[in-house]
Amino acid sequence: MKRKKRIGVLTSGGDCPGLNPAIRAVTKTAIFCHDMEVVGIKDGFEGLIENRTKKLIWEDVSGILTLGGTILGTSNQANPFANGEEKKDVSKETLKNISSLDLDALVCIGGDGTLHIAHRFHQLGVPIVGIPKTIDNDVSATDYTIGFDSAVAVATEAIDNIHSTAESHHRVMILEVMGRYAGWLALYSGVAGGGDVIILPEFSFDIQKVCAELEKRSKLGKRFSLVVVSEGVKLGGTELVIKREVKGSTDPIRLGGVSYRIAEQIEEVCGLETRVIILGHLQRGGKPTDFDRILATQFGKHAVDLAVSGKFGYMTSIQGRNIISVPIQSGIASLKKVPMDFPLIEAARAVGTCFGD
Ligand code: F6P
Repeated sequence: MKRKKRIGVLTSGGDCPGLNPAIRAVTKTAIFCHDMEVVGIKDGFEGLIENRTKKLIWEDVSGILTLGGTILGTSNQANPFANGEEKKDVSKETLKNISSLDLDALVCIGGDGTLHIAHRFHQLGVPIVGIPKTIDNDVSATDYTIGFDSAVAVATEAIDNIHSTAESHHRVMILEVMGRYAGWLALYSGVAGGGDVIILPEFSFDIQKVCAELEKRSKLGKRFSLVVVSEGVKLGGTELVIKREVKGSTDPIRLGGVSYRIAEQIEEVCGLETRVIILGHLQRGGKPTDFDRILATQFGKHAVDLAVSGKFGYMTSIQGRNIISVPIQSGIASLKKVPMDFPLIEAARAVGTCFGD
């Protein structure tokens, strides 16, 4: 009897809403359209290092479209090329494990760190297909990554919810959002939530300009302001505020807390009462938005098509409304940051948003 083709799937790096819809799409497309077998790798690359897998049948992925997180689990500390705190190279053992799974393709769903590892395995001959996901939206060569839209929705709702307290108490309220070194999440949620000031890592900000804007609003009778700050903003143009270090991670730095320093500066310079809310992992939780469910479904289906046609070393991408494929290398060549001339920046400035620059 002819052996069925076998496809593996893993989710790696920080979780986000939309991973389950992507796993569902890969699994159902592989089974329904190509009569393939599907192997789920548990906990991302950790599962490949430790050979922990699970056969996926369509019932396993039925009913997960609306669920956040990932049914396969994930890890942002397992890297077969530099594993754990000792950064041990266990890639040879991992390659043996991959080969024992007898896969015709391996779909790696992840952000920048995951796609780097996936690219290295592809160079070593593993038939890899990538699907970009991250709430940071910082993977190049795609307009959007899975998870970004859902995180924007959570952050926007948070801005809506702090509006009333800011207004009632005549305060400045700062909402700090994630995004690492890219300001996409702050920009999109800041514009959607009507932030008066949005501070992004891409632009160096001047606290005097921020305060001038807050004072201008006070004089105009607006006795409150909403400020959206990206966790990757650098104080004085150079100082990142680091919350902790996760030694085994591909990027060990965990950012957070810059807003407390900005709040102090605002109180000092213009004497306006300022409060800080750090949204944290709430942004990675909850149901995926309709956009993320649709994107994940299209990416999952497209990834299986790439695998079936033998187009390895590529990842799925959305450009405009089109779902296409691009070399993984182009996705990881550099972090995708908000360009100075991005049209949304221009639109935000047109409606009076201050970027502190
Ligand atoms: O990359 C996704 C992300 O949520 C970043 O926005 C954030 O800086 C980081 O991961 C947080 O990582 P952890 O879950 O390890 O604290």
